[in-house]
Amino acid sequence: MSQRIAVIGAGTIGASWAAIFLARGHDVAVSDPAPEGEAFARRFIANAWPTLEKLGWVEKGASQDRFTFHKDPAAAAVGADFVQESGPEREDLKIKLFNTIDAAAPPQTVIASSSSGLLISRVTVECKHPERCVIGHPFNPPHLIPLVEVVGGAKTSRAAIDKAMAFYRSVGKHPIEIKKEVRGHVANRLQAALWREVVHLVAEGVVSVADADAAVAYGPGLRWALAGPSLIFHLAGGEGGMKHFLDHLAPAMQSWMDDLGTTRLTPEVQQAIVKGVAEEAGSRSIADLQRWRDRKLIDVLKVSDSP
Ligand SMILES: NC(=O)c1ccc[n+]([C@@H]2O[C@H](COP(=O)([O-])OP(=O)(O)OC[C@H]3O[C@@H](n4cnc5c(N)ncnc54)[C@H](O)[C@@H]3O)[C@@H](O)[C@H]2O)c1
Repeated sequence: MSQRIAVIGAGTIGASWAAIFLARGHDVAVSDPAPEGEAFARRFIANAWPTLEKLGWVEKGASQDRFTFHKDPAAAAVGADFVQESGPEREDLKIKLFNTIDAAAPPQTVIASSSSGLLISRVTVECKHPERCVIGHPFNPPHLIPLVEVVGGAKTSRAAIDKAMAFYRSVGKHPIEIKKEVRGHVANRLQAALWREVVHLVAEGVVSVADADAAVAYGPGLRWALAGPSLIFHLAGGEGGMKHFLDHLAPAMQSWMDDLGTTRLTPEVQQAIVKGVAEEAGSRSIADLQRWRDRKLIDVLKVSDSP
């Protein structure tokens, strides 16, 4: 069913959210104070549209013409069925913005923040209706990547979390519920855990940056594109599944876990990583690599089971 979705803050993340909400057949009311805000969002959506069509994600009746732009965030939020806030990652700014949205949006409407690291309990301290506010953290770019991390705060109601999960599913996303507020939510912590070890191995001279990348991209990364590490290890246990895997390999796994590094990102270590990745990229520019990644990502999304 077609709804009115408000997108407050339309930079890299907000414009991408607007693209998928439009593609799924909704009316999308966008607000951003930047002088070029409207033009940026319209251009982003027009560029994303052919990819969304190729993926078969543009629904019947969906149109880029169902985009409206409002300088005032309250005007975008009035009458909204769902609000996705994607303003700058600053607590003071988001507190003010949430106040404005909370006062304008109907009291039952869920207000979700894309925030990568702020706590919704803090962002909503001045809201009249904090119970309907959640974090709905996407992965960049949200019009393509299915994962959304939904986190409630101290005052968020069960109903708001359920509504947010259902809404994200309805636009083809794969939401997961995070049951406690933790810094970086879950997916960024998992990325940090793996990358901490990359940094450690490079700093210790065990492997080059390029070969550490190869160790992921040409090995476990191929399987992780299809399923997470626990389900993959369940298969590594053969007929006995995870139980056999652990009976067999828990001591070895524990010894590797105990040996993982805790190297700090000192200026010297950062320099080594920058140099290593420049060697890996070679003559390929950032723009070349972006085009290559986006093309391949579409192929991966086509074979992925998500949502
Ligand atoms: N970039 C990422 O990879 C990524 C991934 C997931 C989540 N996020 C989160 O998404 C949010 C937006 O990040 P981004 O990367 O799109 O940043 P961005 O700088 O590209 O976009 C922020 C937008 O907010 C607008 N803005 C400034 N003041 C505003 C106000 N008072 N009200 C409304 N809009 C305002 C800016 O004009 C800009 O267009 C942040 O909370 C960030 O943590 C970012």
